[in-house]
Amino acid sequence: MHPDGRLEYVGYETFNGVLDYPVSAHPVQDGNDLLFHAYSVDEELIKEHGTMKVGRYNAETESVDTYLVPTPGKSHVSFAHSLIYTNEYIIVWDCSVHFSTDALFEGGSFFKNNQDHTLKFGLMPKNATSRDEVIWIDSGQTGAIVHPLQAWEETEELENGEHRTLIKLWAPFCEDLELDLKQSNTFHMMEFSIDASHKTVSQQVIDDGISSEFAVMPPKPSHSSPKSICKTKVNNPDGSSTVHSSTLSVHDRYGFTAIFDEEGSGHFVGYAKWDMASGNRCLHSTKYFSRGEIGGEPMVVRASGKERDTIYVGSYVYNEEENQSYFLLFDGETNELVCRLKMPKRVPYGFHGQFISGEDFESHFQYHEALDKEELNDVQHCPLKWMRFFLKDFIGLGQI
Ligand SMILES: [Fe+2]
Repeated sequence: MHPDGRLEYVGYETFNGVLDYPVSAHPVQDGNDLLFHAYSVDEELIKEHGTMKVGRYNAETESVDTYLVPTPGKSHVSFAHSLIYTNEYIIVWDCSVHFSTDALFEGGSFFKNNQDHTLKFGLMPKNATSRDEVIWIDSGQTGAIVHPLQAWEETEELENGEHRTLIKLWAPFCEDLELDLKQSNTFHMMEFSIDASHKTVSQQVIDDGISSEFAVMPPKPSHSSPKSICKTKVNNPDGSSTVHSSTLSVHDRYGFTAIFDEEGSGHFVGYAKWDMASGNRCLHSTKYFSRGEIGGEPMVVRASGKERDTIYVGSYVYNEEENQSYFLLFDGETNELVCRLKMPKRVPYGFHGQFISGEDFESHFQYHEALDKEELNDVQHCPLKWMRFFLKDFIGLGQI
């Protein structure tokens, strides 16, 4: 990356020749780890490896500590656009949408919905070394997930002392996903409760009033204090109560998705804010763009320093009448518009983005300048170490 923000392509990253399989669109940062995965339809790759491969790159040791095929069979290739993690597991899935060569003859998408196949979750312990350690659990429900919102562990303790630990996973869920540009899909926010020890999954729709996708969480605070545990007492309909102890940090309470219009054109017309705190779980609020303006995925920004609990939601919108793009920034607390910037050029529809604070960029540049001059001291560190995956270091020319 150049100081003015331009990106320059420098080549493939293979982590010193370790990567022998493609990498998909959504690597995920988990502390110092970068979790990544991909599925492949290449016959040779499937024969040699499998239909999917998952990896964990450790930025501290600069090595790929986990890299394996989690799927037990090679009979079908499931659409698996991203992955998610909890404290204990990397979670992947096998859904009802599969690769099919039918499109060669019939047209349309190479991914077809197969209603005979249910959604299954694969729980992969973070230090797993073989696919035998991956726990696959069938939800019994047909459907698909594209971009999940958040996952965490939660212990429910009843008054009599009985307790159980569940994995909670929130994701926009579509029962009959068709990856065809001619068709729009309906996604409702779903809470999956996964019981790893009993191998069961139950699901609950959080809201069916809006259809929304492109789930995004605020970035973690860069100098984070230890994770705070959310503990809530929930009153049950029978008069008893359950205490929920969640690994969800207070910084992860709210998440965001982009709202589809009601006409089924597939355009995003606003964003939704979701509250995941136990006892409260709901659609918190919605914000719609002005009429005639089409947005992209929400980009969530966290302020730095003492303001780090303040979050903002950004989106590029395209105004059809004016043939003009704008960048909008909203207050993540009140959903009020904070600023509206006219873009010098049209921004492509559905433009993705990620916010990196100026503070982090500054430490990144200082670290590499010191590294180049061999003047690095013990306290200096690079907060963006994981970004070597995407970006050339403009000072060190690859010596991250
Ligand atoms: Fe995506």
